[in-house]
Amino acid sequence: MAGFFTCALDQMLIHLCSCVGGEVNYVCKLKKNLAAVEETMKALIARRADVLKKVQRQESEGQQRLNEVEVWLTSVENIQNQVYELLLTRRDQFERLRLCGFCTKNLSSSHRYGKRVFKMLKEVANVHSKGVFEVVVGPPTIAVAVERPLPSTIVGQEKMLERAWEHLMDAGTGIMGLYGMGGVGKTTLLEQINNRFLKRPFDGVEIVIFVVVSSELRVEMIQDAIAEKLGSCTDEWKRKEKNQKVIDLYTRMKTKKFVLLLDDIWKEVDLKEIGIPFPTKDNGCKVVFTTRSRKVCGQMGVDDPMEVKCLGSDEAWDLFRAKVGKITLESDPDILELACKVVGECRGLPLALNIIGKNMASKRTVEEWEQAIDTLASSAAEFPGMEDHILPILKYSYDSLREDHQVKSCFLYCILFSEDFAIKKENLVDYWICEGFIDEKQGKKKARNQAYGIIGTLVEACLLTEEEEDKSKVKMHDVVREMALWIASDFRKDKERCIVKAGVGLREVPTVENWRSVRRMSLMDNEIVNISDSPNCPELTTLLFQKNRIRNISGEFFKSMPRLVVLDLSHNTYLDRFPKEVSELVSLRYLNLSGIRGIHRLFACLLELKKLMYLNLELTELENISGISNLSSLRTLRLLDNKMSQDCKVMEELQLLEHLEVVTIDIWSIFVSDQLVNAYRAANSIQEISIYILEEKSILTLPDMAVLNKLHMYGSKIVEINVKRSTSSLNKSPTTLSFPNLSTVHLLECNGLKDLTWLLLAQNLKVLEVSFSTQVEDIINKEKAAKILTKEEAGTIIPFKKLEHFQVCSLPQLKSIYWSPLPFPRLRKFNIINCSNLRKFPLDSSSGSRIAGEELVIRIGERDWKDKVEWEDEATEERFLRSILPYC
Ligand SMILES: *[C@@H]1O[C@H](CO)[C@@H](O)[C@H](O)[C@H]1NC(C)=O
Ligand SMILES: *[C@@H]1O[C@H](CO)[C@@H](O)[C@H](O)[C@H]1NC(C)=O
Ligand SMILES: *[C@@H]1O[C@H](CO)[C@@H](O)[C@H](O)[C@H]1NC(C)=O
Ligand SMILES: *[C@@H]1O[C@H](CO)[C@@H](O)[C@H](O)[C@H]1NC(C)=O
Ligand SMILES: *[C@@H]1O[C@H](CO)[C@@H](O)[C@H](O)[C@H]1NC(C)=O
Ligand SMILES: *[C@@H]1O[C@H](CO)[C@@H](O)[C@H](O)[C@H]1NC(C)=O
Ligand SMILES: *[C@@H]1O[C@H](CO)[C@@H](O)[C@H](O)[C@H]1NC(C)=O
Ligand SMILES: *[C@@H]1O[C@H](CO)[C@@H](O)[C@H](O)[C@H]1NC(C)=O
Repeated sequence: MAGFFTCALDQMLIHLCSCVGGEVNYVCKLKKNLAAVEETMKALIARRADVLKKVQRQESEGQQRLNEVEVWLTSVENIQNQVYELLLTRRDQFERLRLCGFCTKNLSSSHRYGKRVFKMLKEVANVHSKGVFEVVVGPPTIAVAVERPLPSTIVGQEKMLERAWEHLMDAGTGIMGLYGMGGVGKTTLLEQINNRFLKRPFDGVEIVIFVVVSSELRVEMIQDAIAEKLGSCTDEWKRKEKNQKVIDLYTRMKTKKFVLLLDDIWKEVDLKEIGIPFPTKDNGCKVVFTTRSRKVCGQMGVDDPMEVKCLGSDEAWDLFRAKVGKITLESDPDILELACKVVGECRGLPLALNIIGKNMASKRTVEEWEQAIDTLASSAAEFPGMEDHILPILKYSYDSLREDHQVKSCFLYCILFSEDFAIKKENLVDYWICEGFIDEKQGKKKARNQAYGIIGTLVEACLLTEEEEDKSKVKMHDVVREMALWIASDFRKDKERCIVKAGVGLREVPTVENWRSVRRMSLMDNEIVNISDSPNCPELTTLLFQKNRIRNISGEFFKSMPRLVVLDLSHNTYLDRFPKEVSELVSLRYLNLSGIRGIHRLFACLLELKKLMYLNLELTELENISGISNLSSLRTLRLLDNKMSQDCKVMEELQLLEHLEVVTIDIWSIFVSDQLVNAYRAANSIQEISIYILEEKSILTLPDMAVLNKLHMYGSKIVEINVKRSTSSLNKSPTTLSFPNLSTVHLLECNGLKDLTWLLLAQNLKVLEVSFSTQVEDIINKEKAAKILTKEEAGTIIPFKKLEHFQVCSLPQLKSIYWSPLPFPRLRKFNIINCSNLRKFPLDSSSGSRIAGEELVIRIGERDWKDKVEWEDEATEERFLRSILPYC
């Protein structure tokens, strides 16, 4: 404090203090006290710096500062601020004293100030004196989690959280993976897990670390985040090399019982590379991560990851209601109803429910809600919040797909199907191969495997989901589909590049502004009757018209589509005329005409499609396929459920198709089946066959059929089934089991047949159903088995090794399934209905699957079965008595 008034003040104070005493004392000693405060504070700051240095040095060695020290350090900081404030006002205080002099009216203010200074001096001295510590740190004690801020209401995750928590707390869980699509609430779930550790200590967990990893995996970033949590992220740490950090972290972490939460990983995180000890049962440590990719779970060594799924409809409604609010929802009964529809459009995706819910909170008129539904249903990308908050989040998953465009193209292809449609994987594979996404030159098997691989990739990335009850189908989540549509339209810049109006009730082909830019068009599942346009579409490759009511297509329509590769017209039941211009589709590779009742024969124009690879004529009224051999590029030909009973040249035609790989077909006569025996190419491409042979007392002979997958036999009057096995030219013994891929066999009303011993040659059989066949005595007949199998085979083959489902129904003569007990390691359903002569099952006490949840269940149709069944032994009876249920 310098300047002119100091001198004057000194004079004045001397004067003042010589006249008055007592209370005025504070004012008199003000200057001295102030100086003392400043001095003591300096000493205190210096002491603090010393203590802090000591603390930090020892902390970097893994120690933890004592609370006592921490409290003191904070108190120094506080007092420093107070002193600073006090000193700030001293100039004003002195000025006041100087001006006012002895007019003691205002002396009380100065007095108060003086008193504060005096008190402060004592306090600073006090803190200073307390700042002497023998030890400043101790061994680390329980430090748990740092709270993650969460929304006040989280709806719908309670059950999931409980399950995840339970799994995590299981002593056997070291690493745990949570996977699911973008926006499904994985991060929230992980944050909730984190916050649970705040409430109480668990099992001696010392530290819980939450790290957001995200797509740019940087090991050092994770290391720094952990170091920060450990309180060792000092400047010194930051200067360390990555390798040094690994060693440092490892030494510090290996003594700790930690829980590491890694949010949003996109590739494998190598714990060793970071410096994290591997979590084991012994060290009790845990690592939990979230990811959008199931594959990453596998890479992290988690075989049983938990899927975070979309919300069920009740939970979705609860969440939406919480976001929109009662007032809006109850403002009009119609709004409540419309809100249910909006929730439906979100398909349980929390991200969409949250954002759309927030958006709708302020909408209180029915019109606004109706408009929202319109927008969501027709062009959801335009809905407020979609393009900014929902789609980009989902698009990360798309961006993370492998760089090559193949997988991306395949993914975008799935938008062509109607919303919420379960797409058969096999169909996708056919489309993709015909579209040329997959190079088919590498051979059929490789190409198909590659296509299935891509489906797997998309499922793992949660961009497609496998249907739970039927794993041969996949679905695209609605909001993911919106994202894909958004990308396919070049982010709405080019809406006509890919026109998708599937399942929206159209009655005619929609108006297109610029046909020239259209590449793909899907109008499936509508009510279109006439197609009469004559569009010029030089770029169009894909046209999906299935499931409409088309009766008439004008020839003009197909005239200018030189690049059309895929045309699907299936299930247009009444289409009976094909314009001859179809032959101008020179690039066409895929044509699906199944379910068109008007097709009786192959139109000449069809036979000109030289590039056609895939032709589906199932469920038509086709009577004969003469001429089909002109389609020389055909790979797949589906002919099941036709009327070709009179066509006896089928096999000849098929034999001419050099590239044939997959055929489905009905056999109507022994004449045709006999031809099959010598039609090697046809026999080895038949995948599915239905046999209806009406000639009395026929003997059916089947050749080896390498790809046969399903066989149905209905109402056939066959008395015997033989197999003509191909033999090696050397020793004349059979080379293979004839039906390596046969998995399903259905027999119905085949009166005359006595046994199905030939099934010994179908080692892949999974489903066998035999019903209403009066003569069947044995499923496998012992004498006949000896004839079909070589001696060597008879010794090694175990029948029904893969059988999962076995059912016999109304076989009055059936006496035996097999002559001795069989292991049936996969069998889950074993149904015996109305087979009154069957007493003994080929089961012993070790038969049937023992995998939990897959136990063998036996169902018997009759009430009095208990008295009839003859068990192999007591142990068998004991084993199965409990698993028998009535068949109803
Ligand atoms: C006395 O103090 C009051 C408030 O503290 C202030 O408003 C007033 O101006 C002072 N009087 C003199 C003469 O300084
Ligand atoms: C052809 O159409 C039918 C009927 O729509 C369908 O069941 C079948 O899966 C389609 N085939 C392919 C490969 O898409
Ligand atoms: C389809 O076209 C025919 C004749 O071209 C016409 O009679 C019929 O009304 C049309 N149907 C529809 C639904 O447009
Ligand atoms: C089918 O379309 C053609 C040309 O558009 C038309 O001449 C014919 O009358 C139509 N037939 C029926 C049955 O609608
Ligand atoms: C089919 O092929 C035969 C000879 O291979 C030929 O005579 C006939 O014209 C062809 N038919 C069509 C429709 O191309
Ligand atoms: C197939 O149909 C054509 C006419 O559509 C007929 O000329 C031919 O004889 C038929 N072939 C057989 C094998 O029935
Ligand atoms: C066996 O059948 C399955 C269908 O279940 C099919 O996907 C697979 O390609 C077939 N294998 C061979 C070798 O044909
Ligand atoms: C049981 O099988 C007999 C033939 O064995 C058949 O006549 C009868 O209809 C069957 N009963 C039922 C309920 O299916």
